[in-house]
Amino acid sequence: MPGNSIPNEAAYQIMHDELMLDGNSRLNLASFLTTWMEPECDKLIMASINKNYVEKHAYPITTELQNRCVNMIANLFNAPLGETETAVGVGTVGSSEAIMLAGLAFKRKWQNKRKAEGKPFNKPNIVTGANVHEVCWEKFARYFEVELKKVKLSEGYYVMDPEKAVEMVDENTICVAAILGSTLNGEFEDVKLLNDLLVLKNKETGWDTPIHVDAASGGFIAPFLYPELEWDFRLPLVKSINVSGHKYGLVYEGIGWVVWRTKEDLPEELIFHVNYLGVDQPTFTLNFSKGSSQVIAQYYQLIRLGHEGYRNVMENCRENMIVLREGLKKTEKFNIISKDEGVPLVAFSLKDSSSHTEFEISHMLRRYGWIVPAYTMPPNAQHITVLRVVVREDFSRTLAERLVIDIEKVMRELDELPSRVVHKISLGEEKSEANGDKLRVTVKKSDMETPREIINDWKKLVPDRKKTNGIC
Ligand SMILES: Cc1ncc(COP(=O)(O)O)c(C=O)c1O
Repeated sequence: MPGNSIPNEAAYQIMHDELMLDGNSRLNLASFLTTWMEPECDKLIMASINKNYVEKHAYPITTELQNRCVNMIANLFNAPLGETETAVGVGTVGSSEAIMLAGLAFKRKWQNKRKAEGKPFNKPNIVTGANVHEVCWEKFARYFEVELKKVKLSEGYYVMDPEKAVEMVDENTICVAAILGSTLNGEFEDVKLLNDLLVLKNKETGWDTPIHVDAASGGFIAPFLYPELEWDFRLPLVKSINVSGHKYGLVYEGIGWVVWRTKEDLPEELIFHVNYLGVDQPTFTLNFSKGSSQVIAQYYQLIRLGHEGYRNVMENCRENMIVLREGLKKTEKFNIISKDEGVPLVAFSLKDSSSHTEFEISHMLRRYGWIVPAYTMPPNAQHITVLRVVVREDFSRTLAERLVIDIEKVMRELDELPSRVVHKISLGEEKSEANGDKLRVTVKKSDMETPREIINDWKKLVPDRKKTNGIC
């Protein structure tokens, strides 16, 4: 921190100039998060930027708006309405906080039941697919001491297989977590089949293993694009759902939601009744203070767009996704990994990656301003690398067409460059790893019919073997 102050205009200019070097958020196609909102909403956000959400006594209208958002979202997810059934929910910072809260509720419910039965309650687990959002679910597992039992993927099948998941359920399973809109390729998991198989298993075993749906992206897509798809509270074992308001809820960063089917699904002991400034304030969030703007912005979008507006936005995203997907197919260079039904994104991989990798394409697209991530799939599909473009509300048809043109340019440029794929030959074992720049392939002896050719190719590219760090 400098010893002396500087004029506000100078501070602004210094920071403004340095921040110009950040990527352009609108061209950040890696992100599911909202990068554009209407100017009227921007005004509401600025007007409420100084309100601490937790001070409910001071800002009762904001509290009321968050409750209305919970009601609308619970309704959207078909929460049962009855005299005894009332969904409950809360606004969070994003899906990660929502998942922590949902996971805690399952853990506490399971522990209470096991204690009452006089059974051990120290080894809780969650069954989920290996495609689960790594940071968020792994964080929950590590912070709250719950084992994650992951169903492995396989080539061509990149979501959790419901049959395998149900096989992995045991008496210590606090819930099965299904994903509506896999982060890797946008695909929806078959929650209905999972529910039906789990109903049977519960009947057989006497357990009552529930389901949580991580609908971070899909929660604001499925109700509008696929209203007939049963994935939500229409299925009896679905007890809680999280969704990111800041993804297809169409609000800037900092808002998520978690909704429980009934108030019995949220153990009362997890709700804090804080006597803050003389008023009883029930809270069930991980943080205390936070901004109000995002809750207000979510309410704006729900009433401004309504069902009609959300449906139009989602349909538009899907149409632009199709323009991009068809453009990529026409190049004949890529396999499309994403599915028709799901989050409007295109995940694709090179048909032939013997000379260049998806990481190089990602890297070279940066020169045109595009931020497109490349990553490897989780076990057992880690040998597959994909590029992913998320189609958001502000990604127009013009941009989709422009991106295809730029990808074609990059492919032509790459074709003119020497191969950057490095072959590491180590006979007798099979292993492959991608580190962003180089793909190292360890070849099994039986797979190598012409090892000498590979070595010669490599020598042509790198005449001085000392420079190869012994990779060859
Ligand atoms: C399926 C899924 N779950 C959870 C998350 C984490 O969500 P958030 O960034 O809102 O915390 C993501 C983020 O992309 C996601 O795709």
